[in-house]
Amino acid sequence: MSSPEVITSIAAMREASSRAKRRGTIALVPTMGALHEGHLSLIREARATCDVVVVSVFVNPTQFGPNEDFTRYPRTFDADLKLLEQEEVDYVFTPDAAEMYPTEGAATFVDVRIGDLLDGANRPGHFRGVATVVAKLLHITSPDVAFFGQKDAAQVAVLRAMVRDLNFPLKLVVCPTVREPDGLAMSSRNRYLTGSERAQSLVLYRALSEAQSKVLRGVRDASELRDTMRNVLSTEPAVLTEYVEVVNPDTLLPIDDVSEGGLLAVAVRIGQTRLIDNALLPASARSKRCA
Ligand code: PAJ
Repeated sequence: MSSPEVITSIAAMREASSRAKRRGTIALVPTMGALHEGHLSLIREARATCDVVVVSVFVNPTQFGPNEDFTRYPRTFDADLKLLEQEEVDYVFTPDAAEMYPTEGAATFVDVRIGDLLDGANRPGHFRGVATVVAKLLHITSPDVAFFGQKDAAQVAVLRAMVRDLNFPLKLVVCPTVREPDGLAMSSRNRYLTGSERAQSLVLYRALSEAQSKVLRGVRDASELRDTMRNVLSTEPAVLTEYVEVVNPDTLLPIDDVSEGGLLAVAVRIGQTRLIDNALLPASARSKRCA
């Protein structure tokens, strides 16, 4: 097991990527560190399917709002590096903020039109920050394949649109959400939760599961599914609902009916912590009677 090469400058990363091209396909897994099994699932998929694996670890300031958790976001680089070594990652790209954003106020951003929906509605500018930093990371590392988690469903929709509209020459792979044994979706922010908040957090998974079982029982009406999720969420009064949506997973726009599939998406606040979760309804939710 050899240690990954840790690279902090854009120039050195570009050089490493162009050398790596000769060895085969390059995978990029963008992260903000504080790695957990969710991140590792993406990295394992990258390792299994590509020749060279680059993981970026960068807590991107431009995707945090002024009152959000940028300064207290967990930074655990030494532990992350050990995990990345175990996963036989080739390169860790970990620039500092001055390397990624050297000028006072950059003049160019990537604004994806759907970036003001779902999380974007509650976090103005968030997806502009995400799309801009991911565009930069893609240009710097030139991967053939980039890996993202379904856990952040709106992020996936925004980045798919960006890759399509701006003709990025790569494949975007989306990996399923990895959960704790009791159902809580893994997240770097879970470590903020106190013991009682951790117990309350299970209500997200319960809300999604209850709506999913309704779909399995034949419910197709999106507003009934929204009500179901809201009702389950209201059983935990300390959990504040930010949004409960049933949307098209590509456009992020609300839908009336899930016969053609859909995305159940919830965001809540528990104490100081914001948590999101979602479930994709496959098109097989299509009415059996019409099949
Ligand atoms: P971060 O939250 O560190 O997540 C990095 C990647 O891991 C994202 O694609 C995210 O969807 C995925 N991920 C997180 N938790 C997961 C889980 N439980 N199961 C599966 N995948 C999971 O998302 C970001 O960073 C940033 O916005 C970034 C894309 C790096 C841009 O700064």
